[in-house]
Amino acid sequence: MNRTIFPTNKILQRADKEQLLDQRGIAIWFTGLSGSGKTTIAIALEKELHANGLLTQMLDGDNMRAGINNNLGFSNEDRTENIRRIAEVTKLFVNSGIITICCFVSPTEEIRNTARTIIGAADFMEVFVNTPLEICEKRDVKGLYAKARKGEIEDFTGITAPYENPLNPAIEITNNFTIEESVKKIIEKINL
Ligand code: ADX
Repeated sequence: MNRTIFPTNKILQRADKEQLLDQRGIAIWFTGLSGSGKTTIAIALEKELHANGLLTQMLDGDNMRAGINNNLGFSNEDRTENIRRIAEVTKLFVNSGIITICCFVSPTEEIRNTARTIIGAADFMEVFVNTPLEICEKRDVKGLYAKARKGEIEDFTGITAPYENPLNPAIEITNNFTIEESVKKIIEKINL
C-alpha cells in the first residue's frame, strides 16, 4: 500500500488556486536604499491591484524583521538569511496564486539572486527604486541616516554598507516619476 502522506496526484496544485482566483501568482520584488520609496509605491500598487479584484500580500523589511526575522541584524550574513527566509515565504504565497509585493533593501546582486533562485526567475519581477542616496538621506524619514552618520548604527546601507545597483531590473523607477506613474508602469509590465 502506498503510504505517501500527500499523494501528489491528489493535492491541489498552484494552477487550481490560480483558476479559483482568476489571476497568476507573481513576486514583485522592490529593491532600493532605505527611504527610496519602495514601501510607498508598493502600498499604492497594492491598493490599485486590490481595487481591480486581485489578491495581494505585501511583505516589507520593517514588518518581517519585527516578527519571523527578529533574531537578525544587518551584517551581510544576516541580510542573506533575512532574504532567504523571506524568499521562501514569498514562494508559498506565489504558489497559492497570490501577487506578492516584497519591499526589501536587498542590497547585493548575490542576495537578490538568492531570492530569484528560490522564488524562480519566471515568477520574480525586480523593480529597482533608483532614488539617489542624497535624496534618501535628505528625506531621512526614520532618522536613521543621521544616526548612521554619527556612528550610532553599524553597517548602514549606502553609508557604511554597500548597495549594488541591479544589473538588469525589469523596471527602474527614478525619483522624477510620480507614485501614480510608477504604479502604472509596474501594472503594464505585469500585464495582468
Ligand atoms: S535587507 O538589507 O536585509 O534587505 P531590510 O529591507 O530587511 O534590509 O530592512 C531594511 C530596513 O531596516 C530599513 O528600511 C531601515 O528602516 C532599517 N534598518 C535598520 N538598520 C539598518 C541598517 N544598518 N542598514 C539598512 N537598513 C537598516
